[in-house]
Amino acid sequence: MRVLGIETSCDETGIAIYDDEQGLLSHELYSQVKLHADYGGVVPELASRDHVRKIVPLIQRAMQDANTTSAQIDGIAFTQGPGLVGALLVGASVGRSLAYAWNVPAVGVHHMEGHLLAPMLDEPAPEFPFVALLVSGGHTMLVSVEGIGKYKLLGESVDDAAGEAFDKTAKLLGLDYPGGPLLAKLAEQGEPGRFTFPRPMTDRPGLDFSFSGLKTFAANTIRAEGQASQTQADIALAFQTAVVETLSIKCRRALEQTGLKRLVIAGGVSANKALRAELEQMTAKLKGRVYYPRLEFCTDNGAMIAYAGLQRLKAGQVVDLSAKAKPRWTLESLEPVE
Ligand code: KG4
Ligand code: ZN
Repeated sequence: MRVLGIETSCDETGIAIYDDEQGLLSHELYSQVKLHADYGGVVPELASRDHVRKIVPLIQRAMQDANTTSAQIDGIAFTQGPGLVGALLVGASVGRSLAYAWNVPAVGVHHMEGHLLAPMLDEPAPEFPFVALLVSGGHTMLVSVEGIGKYKLLGESVDDAAGEAFDKTAKLLGLDYPGGPLLAKLAEQGEPGRFTFPRPMTDRPGLDFSFSGLKTFAANTIRAEGQASQTQADIALAFQTAVVETLSIKCRRALEQTGLKRLVIAGGVSANKALRAELEQMTAKLKGRVYYPRLEFCTDNGAMIAYAGLQRLKAGQVVDLSAKAKPRWTLESLEPVE
């Protein structure tokens, strides 16, 4: 079975073709980062319009790269939610139209399920069951994963997502949007131990997160200590270390609580090197293992949507062609794939 995957939930147009025998045949990505940079965040209306401009040429390129004709496509997978409604509608409309024109089934994929399954695109793929830490610009969640569609939410952020906290703190440090990767780069020049940021919600039981206080702590530290470049790097490092350690403490708790040994991290922040290193160490101590997607599939992409969609299409799950976008959609409400 060969599936065309379409991702348009936020500010990246991602297209990929995945074949269950040959694996990933092609993937294309157009990032709108430059378009939104002047505004310091994603402007939904501009995002939708840019998806409209880019989606068809990207599909044509992905088909060419995969040496695939429309007759060889057996199904279409598009991100149905959660995300920006206008952006989702572009992928949903194009996906359903192609399914109608090519007379193949279509399936709507949950964006976070896509992230969660992204490590399956490479070897060694994690086996079920595992604990997943999903850390993106919009979500911070710990999920117990028994199989595809069998998800139990263990904890989530009560305020800002981890990526959002990175982006907001980066903005305070005068870095461009999205500041997460730039803050991580700046932290490499930081001197460890000069500042210590709190580890929110680690001193009480539970698996929920809170990151908005860290941004306030960063703002106060910047105000008190000034904007010298070494100070900025030291603040970036202290902030990153606090986020990484907080995530690690909660991941360890989730593994201990569930008795599982495998941890998957996915979503934009899983690209963070310090986070990967910390979780490698933490899981090794527990005689477990951490899995993450290759760097380009940590952030939004079409490959993860094609992969997740293929699993659901193979199980006979389809949407009818009037299926709506679901800007709000919980992971736990998904149908299991048996
Ligand atoms: O998964 P993603 O591409 O989009 C959403 O679904 O939200 O995640 C984007 C987020 C942004 O907040 C970005 O700053 C963050 O991931 N990010 C990072 C790094 N790379 C991306 N945060 C920290 N360190 C990184 N290396
Ligand atoms: Zn995402």
